[in-house]
Amino acid sequence: MRRQRLSFVAAAVATVVVVLSGGAATGQPAADDAGRATAEYLVSGARGTDARTEVGGTGAVINSIEHGMLNITATPGEARDLRELGYRVERQEFRQRASGRSAMDFPRKDSGFHNYDEMMAEIDKAVADHPNLISRQVIGQSYQGRDILAVKISDNPDADEDEPEVLFTHQQHAREHLTVEMALYSMNLFTDSYGSDAKITDMVDNREIWIVPTMNPDGSEYDIETGSYRGWRKNRQPNSGSRHVGTDMNRNWAYKWGCCHGSSGDPSSDAYRGSGPESAPEVKLVADFVRSRVVDGVQQITAAIDFHTFSELVLWPYGHTADDTAPGLDAEDHKVFKTLGEQMAQTNGYTPEQASDLYITDGTIDDWLWGEQGIYSYTFEMFPGSGGLDGFYPDDEVIDRETSRNKDAILHLLSYADCPPRVIGQSCDGA
Ligand code: ARG
Ligand code: ZN
Repeated sequence: MRRQRLSFVAAAVATVVVVLSGGAATGQPAADDAGRATAEYLVSGARGTDARTEVGGTGAVINSIEHGMLNITATPGEARDLRELGYRVERQEFRQRASGRSAMDFPRKDSGFHNYDEMMAEIDKAVADHPNLISRQVIGQSYQGRDILAVKISDNPDADEDEPEVLFTHQQHAREHLTVEMALYSMNLFTDSYGSDAKITDMVDNREIWIVPTMNPDGSEYDIETGSYRGWRKNRQPNSGSRHVGTDMNRNWAYKWGCCHGSSGDPSSDAYRGSGPESAPEVKLVADFVRSRVVDGVQQITAAIDFHTFSELVLWPYGHTADDTAPGLDAEDHKVFKTLGEQMAQTNGYTPEQASDLYITDGTIDDWLWGEQGIYSYTFEMFPGSGGLDGFYPDDEVIDRETSRNKDAILHLLSYADCPPRVIGQSCDGA
């Protein structure tokens, strides 16, 4: 099961990585005026889930795992805590790529990635080309006022038909730009192949597909705005009483928020959970959107995938506890999650596991979608399998391969959206 991950080790060892503008020269990750406080480190001596959870419990963000070596982003205080816990903690250098452009765009060599305006243009074009299959709505604004969209794909997209609904969310974490490409891939797949591909036609006719192509446009634009990557993760919401900016949106959801040492209460941390559940406007507006899909007391969305990079994983709830079952998630639910998750992983070659097998997290979207809304929710960690901060910035040449890699997995989830427990032979009473 880990074999695939190990094959990346050689490549990862050869990799030298970025440092975020600012701290690189001095080796001291001092906060810059934009509020950055974190740097990249390699941690050794943290083997197994419990050790990783202990590492994550300091507030450090684990970027990847290779042979028991963790690549993390951490504040100086978190690095100190880790050393006090007995781990070996080594500073890594994140070497900036040469920039080919000035502001607000990807470097020229990565121009295949879509910045926010390019993403919007691509969506508008799809709507114009396929008005009978796709509609878009603005579900709210980011902290800095950028529109956040829900794109709906279905036959009769302007009608609320009685069809199972599936939600795909993207880019909670700013630097995970490949996930926006995943959203655009799905959108184009379902519209361009409608009428020619029988399976896709069937899904578009009989499902309502919601795509939120980015949840964190402010962070995304901030990450690329100088022409060199910043390695930014959080949103761009200031924190009162702190010079450090941003909330880790995937620790801000209103289910067991901050319960379990799976996030940080320190605004300088990359895993800062925010001042309260849904304190990030981007989280609240997507949560409101999901709540708005309750019709006559029944949540219409039955299944969901939240796309991240990287590590090539298919994850399912819960993340807040190491136990397979917990209140709200019984043995049968677990079996459904695991079976469907393993089947999806068979199609894309990712590693399937419960989210907490990685390390404990709290306030994540997948725990909320299941725990509060009863939606069979997965987290996909896309390409690459391992790496340091550079793993967030693959060449644009991989976009086609690494997005289409998930075609069968998303079709598989869609096909079970009428009744996910059908995957283990259970039936659903038509509620
Ligand atoms: N990289 C993701 C994050 O830190 C992993 C989350 C895994 N846990 C989960 N419940 N999905 O947000
Ligand atoms: Zn992420």
